[in-house]
Parts: sequence; structure tokens; C-alpha cells
Amino acid sequence: MEGVIDANTRDLLTRQQGFDWTVTEFVRVVDARLPPRVFYKHCPELATQGVTTPSRIPVHLQLLGSDPDALAANARQALRLGAISLDLNFGCPAKLVNRHDGGASLMRDPHRLAAAVAAVHQAVGEDIPVTAKIRLGFSHRRLALDCALAAEAAGARQLVVHARTRDEGYRPPAHWEWIGKIRQRLRIPVVANGDIFTLEDYWKARTLSDCTDVMLGRGALADPLLAPRLKHWQRTGERLPATTWAQRAQVLMEYAAMQRSILPAKVVVSLLKQWMNHMRARDEESAARFKALRRITDLDDFIAGLSADTPESGLPARHTALNARPQAIAAD
Ligand SMILES: Cc1cc2nc3c(=O)[nH]c(=O)nc-3n(C[C@H](O)[C@H](O)[C@H](O)COP(=O)(O)O)c2cc1C
Repeated sequence: MEGVIDANTRDLLTRQQGFDWTVTEFVRVVDARLPPRVFYKHCPELATQGVTTPSRIPVHLQLLGSDPDALAANARQALRLGAISLDLNFGCPAKLVNRHDGGASLMRDPHRLAAAVAAVHQAVGEDIPVTAKIRLGFSHRRLALDCALAAEAAGARQLVVHARTRDEGYRPPAHWEWIGKIRQRLRIPVVANGDIFTLEDYWKARTLSDCTDVMLGRGALADPLLAPRLKHWQRTGERLPATTWAQRAQVLMEYAAMQRSILPAKVVVSLLKQWMNHMRARDEESAARFKALRRITDLDDFIAGLSADTPESGLPARHTALNARPQAIAAD
């Protein structure tokens, strides 16, 4: 996820057994062959044996673009740098990306989508799997199946389907039943994606899409133990206990420790808030912690707040006063 899931996050999220593979943020391909540093920035794991996270979970490099020649040139570059698999993004809804003809805009034309997949597939050969990520369409779903079939015919080895059109953005509901229509017609593995935040969501998505495998995006940030929970349930039928605040805080503190060695402290605080923002939408304790910490800009104060016994108790006095002010005004 662009701007959200970098190599450190991939490392943290794959420490517990849950994920089978991960994917990088997209490398934006326009017309030129990009220099190696761009690939290493998005995928530092290229420098490791086998291109994996430290827990040995494979990392697939994602490209986003529409020009077949440019995609092919960058696919060859990625291959030279050691990529083990390439994923093509036809799902990005961003206006800027789509205006420049990338991401979900290719869902308007199955032939162009196929040309992109075929160019990359031919550039890297049979040994390097090329996978694709699509939405159900751009502004309607009428081409969903055509695009999926086109990707398969052009050489995609696996298809992840985010169950919404581009115009639906991230608005619920996710139309998992549409993934089922695609799944019925394709021979390659189809992976369901969109709005899987709990075991119940997984069960519904699996039932409606007939896909055993799912891709987690925001759900993995909202609950960093969601993937291990799903995996455990798949294997044993048992439900693991809900993720506690202490477990979430532990992940956030490890993240802070990793990021502060490479980024300015203020940026790390913003990243922590960004991650907590995903947690607070799905968990009451995280929401209370976020509320208590949202004005803090000092990294050490923020970390102290994460490990505090209660939302307010770990805050420096000046922040406790700040957070208390609205109540005082209301009381007046
Ligand atoms: C901030 C953000 C950044 C994203 N960046 C990417 C990306 O770089 N590549 C990609 O394939 N999908 C990206 N996505 C889409 C997610 O992979 C996923 O398809 C979408 O969020 C729906 O799944 P979810 O409900 O599990 O999050 C991004 C989503 C968000 C919210």
C-alpha cells in the first residue's frame, strides 16, 4: 500500500505466521527505464537472498503503468536486480495516476490491459511469475470479466480482485459475489480483496467469492494479528482471542524503533498516527489511545503514551491539560 506499507511494515506484519507473500508499494512506470535506486527504495528486500522479508516471506515487486514498452524495460530491470515475481497494478484509483493513464484506468480497455501484461510476461520469461491486481472496473462492472480473462490470456499467473470499481473508491460494500463470477471462469488462482477486517468478513468473502485465499490491506494494519488469526482458523477451525491493545502497542513501538533509525522523529510520529488511524476505526481501545495521543508531536512522548497503562496516564502534563480543555469549556 503506497505510503503505508514499506519494508519495515512488511517485516513486522510477517513475523507471525499468517501471510504467504507480500507486495511492495507500486513503482510508477511512465516512459523511461528507472534507475536501480528506485527499485531498491520500494523493495529493499531485493538485496536479500530470495527477495523475502526477514521471516522468509516472499516479496513481490509491483509495477504501475500502461505503456507496454516501458513496462517491459522496467520489468527487465527488476529482473536484473533480482526480482522473483512481478505484480501489475490495475486497481489504483488515484486521480493523478489515472489522468496519466495508469492503475484502474486500464480497466476501461481489456486490450490495453492485456498488452501491458503480455509485454511484462514476455520481457521476463516463464521463470518469473507475473501477477495482476484489478478492480471490478472503472465506472461500471461490465468489463470486469473481460479484463480478468484478458489478464489470464496474456500470461498472468494469479489475479487479485478488489471487489469495487474505481469510482466506488473505498466505499462499502465490497461486491465479493462479483469476484465469484470471475473465479468461475478463470483457470489461474483468484484472490479476493476488499473490506476483510474480521474472521466473519473472511468467511462471507470466501463464501460469496469461492476464493480460499484473500489479500489483506487495511485490515492488516487495523489488526496486525488478523492474518495469523485467519491462518490459524483455516488450519484448526479455532478462533484465537481478539488482539489486545498491548499487542497492538508492541507492534507500534517496534515500528517506531525501526523507523526512527532511518527517518526524522516528526515523520515517525506522523507514520505512527497514520497506522493508529487504521486501528482506531476498528477497535475502541485504539480509538481512545489515538484520541489521547493525537496532539503529541514528540516521538518519545508518543512512545511513552503507547505503553502507558491507560490512555491518559502516560501523557506529559501539558498534553493531559490540552486533552482536558474541551471538557472544561463544555462544563463552563
Ligand atoms: C493508502 C492506500 C494505499 C494503497 N496502495 C496500493 C498499492 O500501492 N498497490 C496496490 O495494489 N493496492 C494499493 N492499495 C489498495 C489495497 O491494496 C486494497 O486493494 C484496498 O485497500 C482494498 O482492500 P482492503 O479493504 O483490505 O484495504 C492501497 C490502498 C490504500 C488505502
